[in-house]
Amino acid sequence: MTTDNVMISVKGLKKHYNYGVVKALDGVDIDINKGDVMVVIGPSGSGKSTFLRSLNLLEEPTEGSIFFQGKDIVNDKIDMDKFRQKMGMVFQHFNLFPHKTVLENLTLAPQVVKKANKAEIEKKALELLDRVGLADRANAYPVQLSGGQKQRVAIVRALCMEPEVMLFDEPTSALDPEMVGEVLEVMKELAHNGMTMVCVTHEMGFAREVGNRVVFMADGKLIEQGTPDQIFDHPQSPRLKDFLGKVL
Ligand SMILES: Nc1ncnc2c1ncn2[C@@H]1O[C@H](COP(=O)(O)OP(=O)(O)OP(=O)(O)O)[C@@H](O)[C@H]1O
Ligand SMILES: [Mg+2]
Repeated sequence: MTTDNVMISVKGLKKHYNYGVVKALDGVDIDINKGDVMVVIGPSGSGKSTFLRSLNLLEEPTEGSIFFQGKDIVNDKIDMDKFRQKMGMVFQHFNLFPHKTVLENLTLAPQVVKKANKAEIEKKALELLDRVGLADRANAYPVQLSGGQKQRVAIVRALCMEPEVMLFDEPTSALDPEMVGEVLEVMKELAHNGMTMVCVTHEMGFAREVGNRVVFMADGKLIEQGTPDQIFDHPQSPRLKDFLGKVL
């Protein structure tokens, strides 16, 4: 593997809770390359969310290093605001401001944090809204949107910050089934446009079709990784075989 293509390099990452009683992450090593669409799968409590939240330092790792653009973001002194702008995050719940319109939700952070020009960021936000099929909802309030629409707005909100990598933590698992497809479609389009993505999801169809790498976690450890074909059709470890037997 060439190293100049590596975007994030995770080394010996540990996150312990309750004085080490809970080992949410127990020594994770992995490189995320530019353009990767990495799908993280694994049973509940295996550390998937903790892994994602550690990547952008929403959790402070107990031990280990995360190298991003030449800096160890865990141990080196970094400008946290600047760093966070580079990693867009989309959660299960959208957390849009209820008293602001869609457009205001999208343009607030870029103006405050990035000092973006109002007219320019509005233009960009409207273009992105158009790309996710919501051009006509710019002046709506979150309460007037469906769950799937809100999640598409949340994705656009992250994109308005022009991140270099997008982290998704089960973005479709709180949605009604008929709205899952429209959100996955937006994620698929992002992937095809070359966005580097790390996605925790239970959508195995998405993992297979859109992911170029699948990572299986259990007990805070990375148990197996490979192409979708390797992971889904030729699993090696008993833990993975057992997991797939339950979810496929
Ligand atoms: N703030 C916390 N305090 C104590 N334990 C925690 C905390 N956050 C997570 N944990 C524990 O760490 C482990 C990993 O949790 P995590 O949320 O990363 O799992 P997950 O794989 O995302 O699970 P799920 O599929 O249910 O979302 C679990 O045992 C969880 O109970
Ligand atoms: Mg989780």
